[in-house]
Amino acid sequence: MPNPDSEKLVSARRDRVTRRWELNDEIVLVRSGPVLPMAGSDMEHSFHPHPDFAYLTGRGIPDAVLAFDAKQRHWQLFGPRSSIDDQVWHQPADPVGLPLEELDDWLGDRKGRQVIEVSNSTELQAGIGEERVRKDELELTALRSAAAATKAGFDWLYNTVSAGMTEREIQVGIEAEFFRAGAVRTAYPSIVASGPNGAFLHYFYGQDDSLNPATRAVLQGELLLIDAGGEFSGYASDVTRTMVVGAEPSDVQAFLWQVVLSAQELAIDRCRPGQEWREIHMDSARVIGSGLMELGLLRGEVDQLVSSGAVALFYPHGLGHLIGLTVHDAGGYPSGRERSSHPQSRYLRTDRPLEAGMITSVEPGVYFIDALLGDPALREQFSEEVVWQEVDSLRGFGGIRIEDDIHVTNDEPEVLSGAIGKPVRIG
Ligand code: GLY
Ligand code: MN
Ligand code: MN
Repeated sequence: MPNPDSEKLVSARRDRVTRRWELNDEIVLVRSGPVLPMAGSDMEHSFHPHPDFAYLTGRGIPDAVLAFDAKQRHWQLFGPRSSIDDQVWHQPADPVGLPLEELDDWLGDRKGRQVIEVSNSTELQAGIGEERVRKDELELTALRSAAAATKAGFDWLYNTVSAGMTEREIQVGIEAEFFRAGAVRTAYPSIVASGPNGAFLHYFYGQDDSLNPATRAVLQGELLLIDAGGEFSGYASDVTRTMVVGAEPSDVQAFLWQVVLSAQELAIDRCRPGQEWREIHMDSARVIGSGLMELGLLRGEVDQLVSSGAVALFYPHGLGHLIGLTVHDAGGYPSGRERSSHPQSRYLRTDRPLEAGMITSVEPGVYFIDALLGDPALREQFSEEVVWQEVDSLRGFGGIRIEDDIHVTNDEPEVLSGAIGKPVRIG
């Protein structure tokens, strides 16, 4: 149950959103959404409220509707009431607002006025999205709790994991600690990728065949990439660490790990109001590109290697994304900014100047991705810039990513996940 202070903050969110919406006498409906059925079954997936509804109510009740009467500047919440039969099978939904059955009469009293579903209106959604970009104190508290739960999982990992454990065993262990520390669920499917699997950016257990999922034991001296986080009150944590397991890092592992860390540290220090995210991203690509040149994998001039797309062969994703009620949160591209098709920025999830109150991930990486490095057209296109003989000797290396969640403030950046250690070796 929300407390009076949280209700005040939620009410302030509604006020800010209505100031962004240019409305006169319309009616707006924001729905929490239904519980989704599992295909071919009478069972249901676990419920995730629409994040816009969650933001404007602080509640996660299925089939609820938040209505806004623009003429009266009045918000009204409608929630379902559980029937006796419902209550035989399920604990009752918290009875919020007016009973949902009264929504039709409420709308009938406002007959003739335009009714807009937020989910059908990009402008109204963008108005909420713009507000969700800057977090209030209630949200920051939830994000810090999510980071603390995530730290418990990583601490378990550092103390427990050794060569020979399977990815699945590691996933089960880290997630158990998230939950023990208060996380309601994981913020996204955990990525636990050993050795070559670290080169799949989003490697999830069961992706190959959910009935017959593959797992793999991490071998001594291999990289282990863990990208995982708990969710708390709907807010995500998104943390990646990459470590060598059970052995001292090889020269190449140690060098590339340090390159990624340097790119991350430089970027974190620039998480300050007014900084353009795209520029920080491109600078992180220059750091990665310079490292690849120093290692003898790329040749040429670093700006050219970034603009040609050669660096993107090894660092194809964006530096980071906004984080909040979803792990890849709303508001990454404000109106007027279009996604780029350039290889170095086509997966960039944010393109806007940073502002105090934003939470962004900072997650540079280096990967040896077979699909790219084995592609004949790309090998031909980059025959001058890539030293293929050297690169081919590192196929199967996997990937290195280091990711933290940063709160942009008017002062120093606050690293929400900063208490989570960054060992280069475990086990
Ligand atoms: N964990 C997903 C991501 O880092 O974007
Ligand atoms: Mn991540
Ligand atoms: Mn991320």
